[in-house]
Amino acid sequence: MNALVFPILRLLSDGALHSASSISEQLKCSYHDIRNTVDEFETLGITLISTNDCYRWNEPVQWLDAELILQKSGLSNDLYLVTILDVAESTNNFLLDQYREKHHETTSSSKASVVAAELQTCGRGRLNRRWHSGFGDSLTFSVGRCFNKDACALTGLSLVIGLAILRTLNHFSIVNVNLKWPNDIVSKTHYQKLAGILIDFKSLAHRLSYVVIGIGVNFNLRDEVKAQLERPVTDLFTLAGRKIDRNFFCGKLLIEMHYMLINFEQYGFKYFKEEWISSHAFEGKRISMSLPDCSVIEGIAQGVGDDGALHVLTAEGLKSFHAGDVSISISDVCA
Ligand code: BTN
Repeated sequence: MNALVFPILRLLSDGALHSASSISEQLKCSYHDIRNTVDEFETLGITLISTNDCYRWNEPVQWLDAELILQKSGLSNDLYLVTILDVAESTNNFLLDQYREKHHETTSSSKASVVAAELQTCGRGRLNRRWHSGFGDSLTFSVGRCFNKDACALTGLSLVIGLAILRTLNHFSIVNVNLKWPNDIVSKTHYQKLAGILIDFKSLAHRLSYVVIGIGVNFNLRDEVKAQLERPVTDLFTLAGRKIDRNFFCGKLLIEMHYMLINFEQYGFKYFKEEWISSHAFEGKRISMSLPDCSVIEGIAQGVGDDGALHVLTAEGLKSFHAGDVSISISDVCA
């Protein structure tokens, strides 16, 4: 991406009219560089008002702000380092790359790293899917931190993060949402996806793991982004009927996760099991479960186990599943 895109956008985010020559003066580049860069904005979904070589950005995005996020979270910067990137392929990959370079320096008392991107160009989802988001229309961030647990003892972590997102949504009075196993947040009506979680693990030593928790929340998706998606989605603007502050939301989610993860580290998923089940979108409903071997199981969703496995009552009895993709049967959608 052209290196002038973000400097120009930051200049224009005061909503005032700026001439191309004043922008080129301030950014110490040529008039043609400005013209060429502005032409790229359409691909980001940004439309500028342009008159007589002057530009105005009528609806600037709300920029992510590391200091504000930390301040809203109330967490100490001794414990968390928050970084905002203009562009990242994937914030999870960014932290994994950083870990590869610095893993010899990583100990259980290392600061947690939070990395959020204004634009994620190659976001990863579960099951090798893509996570689509556009500039300024989502919150895409990852938290990299150590856990005093073996990687295999971290099952259920993604469910706990889903619960942290749900509690944060409730804090913003958004209650028309539920949890879809293992780690989606969906609208209560029509099960449209609002947020997703992707967790990457690395084993560091006995009872020590490095974990990257990636979170994507749709805030106000543009129609072009929605059109790229095969599955039904929703966003916070639609659910709340108002704009939600991304920095405030991120801060609240970080503090929620912080305290929940202390309990998760100590007691495991079972500490949260009942709360999770009480918000399970498909509880007691007829579901189809696509398994990693491509087989499909049908049955009634019957809660989750202490380890976060989904329990399904099938024709052959109660079964638990640790991986797979759940969808609701048509008869239950219509019910
Ligand atoms: C899913 O629902 O399939 C998981 C989506 C996770 C998306 C987030 S966005 C921030 C982080 N970086 C990524 O590449 N993916 C996660």
